[in-house]
Amino acid sequence: MTFILIKTIHLFAAFIYGGFLFTDNLFCTKIERTYGAEKYKEIRESFMKYVRKVVPPSLIVLVLTGVYLFPQVFGTVSDAGLTWFQKVMLLKAFLGLWLGLRGFLQVYFGIQPFLFKSHRLPLILVVTILILTQIRYLPL
Ligand code: HEM
Repeated sequence: MTFILIKTIHLFAAFIYGGFLFTDNLFCTKIERTYGAEKYKEIRESFMKYVRKVVPPSLIVLVLTGVYLFPQVFGTVSDAGLTWFQKVMLLKAFLGLWLGLRGFLQVYFGIQPFLFKSHRLPLILVVTILILTQIRYLPL
């Protein structure tokens, strides 16, 4: 029961965080095209005020719930080595933790990341993570 509850929270957090990245990358850029750089800055700031209250905490919830779920699905490593499922889950956890750490350091400590200063690479990573969570069951 706890597993299902935490996984549902994990999914909602992924939905909020990923949803923002999709919106920012795909749609907000169009606002700039219509209104120009100056006006866009103003418009963006008006909604980023609210985004900052919701999206960074969602990322933290996403990582913490993921860390809770991880040992419960990973299983034990046999003498034959890591299974496909385990390799994919390790990669997913690594990318998720990287995203989480870099987001946390940027928002709460003002440390600018070396890589992906814009939101394009986080979106690519989220899409990759979503694909990884689906292909982990392939019989490889
Ligand atoms: C941006 C970060 C992340 C996104 C977008 C994300 C997305 C998802 C999604 C969509 C699922 C549901 C998959 C399904 O049931 O088909 C899931 C499950 C899961 N995630 Fe994440 N996740 C992220 C970060 C993490 C991290 C950092 C960890 C671990 C350290 C993690 C561990 C897990 C585990 C263990 C499950 C449960 C798998 C299962 O039920 O078999 N996730 N994640």
